[in-house]
Amino acid sequence: MSFDTIIQRLFLEIKKIEDTGEIASYIPELQNIDTNKFGIYIASTNNSNYGVGDYAEKFSIQSISKVLSLSLAYNILGETIWNRLGVEPSGTSYNSLIQLETDKGIPRNPFINAGAIVIADILLSKLKYPKEDFLSFIRNLSGSEKINYSSKIATSEKSVGYRNIALCNFIKSFNNIQNAPSEVLDFYFDICSLEMSAKELSNTFLFLANKGINPHTNNQVLTQSQSKRINALMQTCGFYDESGEFAFKVGLPGKSGVGGGIVAVHPGHYAITVWSPKLNKKGNSFKGIQFLEKFTTASKLSIF
Ligand code: DON
Repeated sequence: MSFDTIIQRLFLEIKKIEDTGEIASYIPELQNIDTNKFGIYIASTNNSNYGVGDYAEKFSIQSISKVLSLSLAYNILGETIWNRLGVEPSGTSYNSLIQLETDKGIPRNPFINAGAIVIADILLSKLKYPKEDFLSFIRNLSGSEKINYSSKIATSEKSVGYRNIALCNFIKSFNNIQNAPSEVLDFYFDICSLEMSAKELSNTFLFLANKGINPHTNNQVLTQSQSKRINALMQTCGFYDESGEFAFKVGLPGKSGVGGGIVAVHPGHYAITVWSPKLNKKGNSFKGIQFLEKFTTASKLSIF
């Protein structure tokens, strides 16, 4: 059976099930979303692409952007980046502060908020025009000039960003933030506010299914080894304290965001995005995980 047939069938099946999740209301602006939105898009390394539902509609990608900011910082710093953060699953929620004290300000991994704040600090130090340069990196990866930050979402998150403010200041007290916390946080909130459709996201992540090569330009974004490592981190840390369960159910590296998006990558084959705004208790899309579990089961393809 082709991917298209499986995706179409599962889309109709999962659309019908009761969604027991809740939208992420801690960022006020995210509450305005229509919770019935549901879109899927697969982009393959062999150029066969397919979308269903609301796959062309933009949504807030939130923490999914952490993979992209890491990719750019990794490209710039190489392996020395790991002096600033770890590569272990945290087993805690994305916004947790508890391990930082014993870990002396070194975040467990780049995908929890603490790690992504350190990455924002690195980019702030290394890029001439951080906001513009990061955006053009993303546009280049996606093959689309139509991608942008949402100042509405960034401002909304900043107005209630107490935990992230605490994280950044705490890490700074251990000398693992070099810039002014307010500047690092502004950039972090901007990065999280990126808006993309499922189609744009799958196209953007295709380089991680393609040995680190941007399939739209043939540019080597990351070395093959770096691309392998980012996939490994998505597999072990992409869903916070639900990472083990995602690996168990879906069997692919992936990354979620509180906007309800999930991207999963099958190295060598495809990147697939599912968007459904209501989240389970761990902050990951309720229907997104259900869809992907059924998709890898039905297609009989996973990395395991
Ligand atoms: O910092 C935050 O809390 C949000 N900007 C991002 C959190 C997020 O997407 C976690 N993912 N599931």
